[in-house]
Amino acid sequence: MKKPIVIANWKMKLSAKQSSFLAKDFKKSLKNFKDQDIVVCPSDISLTDVGSILKKSNIKLGAQNMFWEEFGAYTGESSSAVLKEVGCDYVILGHSERRQYLGETNDMVNKKIDRALDSNLVPIICIGETKDERHDGLTDNVLYHQLKECLNSVHLIVGEKIIVAYEPVWAIGSGDVVDADEAERVFELINQVLIDIYPLTIVRNNVRMIYGGGIDSSNISSFSDIKLLDGFLVGGASLDTNKFKDIITAL
Ligand code: PGA
Repeated sequence: MKKPIVIANWKMKLSAKQSSFLAKDFKKSLKNFKDQDIVVCPSDISLTDVGSILKKSNIKLGAQNMFWEEFGAYTGESSSAVLKEVGCDYVILGHSERRQYLGETNDMVNKKIDRALDSNLVPIICIGETKDERHDGLTDNVLYHQLKECLNSVHLIVGEKIIVAYEPVWAIGSGDVVDADEAERVFELINQVLIDIYPLTIVRNNVRMIYGGGIDSSNISSFSDIKLLDGFLVGGASLDTNKFKDIITAL
C-alpha cells in the first residue's frame, strides 16, 4: 500500500456554519494521524472558512468539482485558480452524482483533469457502474471506457499525482459495499488499464486507487486484504467525527 488516504466528501449536506463546526472538530480529533493523508471536501461555499480552519493542520482541503477553463463568463462555476487561492490541494472530478444530475461526461472530466494537473491540484477521478450495468454484465466495459476516456491524452509527469476512486453507483449512500473479492478483481482491472496507459513506474508512484460507496466503520475491515487499495472516499460516515476517525484508524 502507498501512503493511505481517506477523503471526506461532505456533498451538499451541511450548512456553512455546520461545515466550520465539523472542520474544527476534525482538526482537534484527528490531529495525531500522521501516517495517513486526510482530505476534507466541503461544498464550494464553505471552502474559504474550512480552508482557514484547517490551515497548518494535518488535514488537507479538497473541492467537490471545478471548471476546466481558467477564467471567463462561466456562471456558477469555480476555477482551479480560485480553488488554489482558498487552499485546495485536491479536487473530486466526475462524481456519479454530477454525472447523473448535471450531465457530466467523461470528456468534461478529461478536460477538468488536465486543468487540475496544470494547476497543481490532485484530481480524484470517480468511476463506477450503475446497478443495471452490473446486472447486465457491463461493469468491466463501463469502467474501462470511463478510465480511458477520462485519462485520454493526460500525460503524467514525475511528481504529478492522480487518485482513481472506484465508486459503484449502487453502493453510494446505501450502506452496502461491493464484495471484497469483487473489489479486488476490479482494482486489478483498473491497475491493468492504467498500466496500458502509463509506464509502470508512473502507475506505482503517481497513482493511488481508492474505494468509495457505503463505507463505514462496520464494513471497512472487509477491505483490509485488498493489496491495490490505497484508501477510501467517504460520504455519509464523514459527517460524524467518530465514525470518520474509526475509518482512518482501521487503515
Ligand atoms: P457514501 O458516499 O460513503 O455516503 O456512500 C460516497 C461518495 O459518494 O463519495
